[in-house]
Amino acid sequence: MSVAPVAIVTGGAQGLGAAICVELLKQGYKVCIADIQQYKGKYFTHQQEEEFGAENVIFSACDVTKEADYISTFDLTLKTFDRVDVLINNAGIVLEQDPETLFSVNLLGPMIGCQTAIKYMGKSHGGKGGMVINMSSILGFVPFSAAPAYVASKHGLIGLTRSFGLPYHLEKDGIIFAALCPSFTDTDLLKSISTNSLVPGLDYSNHKDIMSPEYMAQGVLKLLEDRINGSILMISKNLGTKYIGFQEEFKNVPLE
Ligand SMILES: NC(=O)c1ccc[n+]([C@@H]2O[C@H](COP(=O)([O-])OP(=O)(O)OC[C@H]3O[C@@H](n4cnc5c(N)ncnc54)[C@H](O)[C@@H]3O)[C@@H](O)[C@H]2O)c1
Repeated sequence: MSVAPVAIVTGGAQGLGAAICVELLKQGYKVCIADIQQYKGKYFTHQQEEEFGAENVIFSACDVTKEADYISTFDLTLKTFDRVDVLINNAGIVLEQDPETLFSVNLLGPMIGCQTAIKYMGKSHGGKGGMVINMSSILGFVPFSAAPAYVASKHGLIGLTRSFGLPYHLEKDGIIFAALCPSFTDTDLLKSISTNSLVPGLDYSNHKDIMSPEYMAQGVLKLLEDRINGSILMISKNLGTKYIGFQEEFKNVPLE
């Protein structure tokens, strides 16, 4: 009998993270739901225990801005399930009034996540390799006047993913890095744009291109199935699901 793969999902208590956890559990993964919201995270975990079995899901209190929280989350996951195969750096916020906090959660957090994944899963550290998925956004490609800091953080995640996704890291650690770039998805974060962006009162709740979190979670499954290192997958109800290439002009910049 094959061993069930194990995934850690940050920001897993609600929204996209919660939908990803449910999809992974449906696919036979064991899941560690990692979130700063303990009450909500534990409640959601309890619901998933009832649906998928207590032996398949745990909660870990984790503030992604703190390396110690990533370490305790990986330790708990290893102790419980005996392995870690996938990290999904999903936690994120919109908070244009406080760019320092925004960058800490949206960019520094995933950076610490990538480093911790390498420590625990990397072959150069005695691990077996695995996969890291960073949650960027369609705003990882396009500007948005209401949220420059958020846009910068999501552009940053694409650079982070593509850099860890180069052959040097794959050969050293056997970890595949990829990013998902969803378009508008119906969650609290989308609602928070009305108060937390630079343009008060913006309302995307009736936008025609809004996806459900469940629809978006199919993008994560595609990345896990395709396992393309350094890949950037866009998912949108309107524009479709497709890998994004980068400009030919920069192909021969002599860095690698
Ligand atoms: N909703 C969208 O339209 C959309 C589109 C593209 C990308 N995204 C990205 O998807 C991710 C999830 O967003 P969402 O829409 O589900 O938002 P959400 O607000 O519904 O959920 C975010 C989750 O992250 C958690 N979180 C916040 N700060 C944290 C921290 N410091 N440490 C750990 N957990 C923390 C929250 O507790 C919450 O459970 C984010 O990275 C977001 O930028 C969202």
